[in-house]
Amino acid sequence: MSEALTYLIKARPEAMQAYFKFLKDAGSRLDPKTRNLISVITKVHSQTENGLRQYLTRALREGATAEEIIDALLMAFPALGLARIVWAADVILKMDLPEFRLDAPPAEPAWHDVAAFAALADGKATRLDCDGRGLFVWRKGRTVKVYDSRCPHQATNIPHLALKGERLTCPKHEWAFDITTGACIAKGSTPLKRWESRVEGGRLQAYW
Ligand code: FES
Repeated sequence: MSEALTYLIKARPEAMQAYFKFLKDAGSRLDPKTRNLISVITKVHSQTENGLRQYLTRALREGATAEEIIDALLMAFPALGLARIVWAADVILKMDLPEFRLDAPPAEPAWHDVAAFAALADGKATRLDCDGRGLFVWRKGRTVKVYDSRCPHQATNIPHLALKGERLTCPKHEWAFDITTGACIAKGSTPLKRWESRVEGGRLQAYW
């Protein structure tokens, strides 16, 4: 939260609580994808980089495609103007999200070949790259869980060094996750994005 907002909450707590309640109520009838797309536009309007990173991550998580996000920004051109849209594109490029790469495969979800199941260490998590996406794969016996390596807070690509036993800690703002469940166990509340997975012919596959 910005210093200015923190100040306003302390200076006028009743008014600010009513304001936040109004915002929550106003968004409660919108589906999560639409709500997050609108938040993306407001963060671009105020040129709040951390906010843009956060709501862009949420919009993608709620099923928005890169094309939809770009179209939402372009539709908001009368309010944003070209300079803010270019600023947003710069932030998005810095985030280096697989969904926004120009050579990214079509957005249609598909099964991806990840690794030989037998090669995955038992009782441990492994960091892998597959078709342009970073993954953490946790295996215990026949149970496997595949997570996106992007942090659910602001999409930082979490490196393998962030893994200590069963605890994965994002280096950016230290949200921590239990790699056996994907649950966020410190600082934040959103779990890791988990991809559906299966083992076919001895190969681990994941669906995104
Ligand atoms: S990006 Fe903020 S904790 Fe990961």
